[in-house]
Amino acid sequence: MKASKSLPAILSTVLMFGSAISAATAETIGENLYKQHCATCHAIAKDALGRNGPSLYGIVGKSAGQMGSFLYSAEFKKGLEGKIWTEDLLDAWLANPQKIASGSYMMYRQDDLSVRKAIINYLKTIQ
Ligand code: HEC
Repeated sequence: MKASKSLPAILSTVLMFGSAISAATAETIGENLYKQHCATCHAIAKDALGRNGPSLYGIVGKSAGQMGSFLYSAEFKKGLEGKIWTEDLLDAWLANPQKIASGSYMMYRQDDLSVRKAIINYLKTIQ
């Protein structure tokens, strides 16, 4: 009995979620994902101080490891010195920072390409 009641409930939840997504702009989705996935460690406002990680204001197109007074790990510097944060490099970084700079302080990885893309698209708007 319980099962027959819960299926319509699940379906209506899925439908509500679907329409909420289509109503929201892609940018809002990216911003929300950023808040959920990155904001605990990264501030984004201009001139913001780093948190656990450096501020990400204007990060797309910037040289790696240049965010104010943040103390990057030696592994980060070794893996990323002189590199520019292109969208491709950011995508690879978010998929697995440890693959690019083994031993980096960033303890996060995102397997879902659509989540990575939405967050990167949002970051592009913060310049
Ligand atoms: C648990 C904390 C944490 C989370 C969550 C996190 N990061 Fe980081 N991130 C760091 C730390 C710490 C560093 C510095 C790495 C080092 O020095 O080894 C870093 C570095 C970076 C850098 C390099 C910045 C520069 O100055 O070159 C980028 C870009 C970045 N993170 C993006 C993100 C994004 C986007 C997300 C969310 C999808 C995210 N991070 C989630 C902690 C985190």
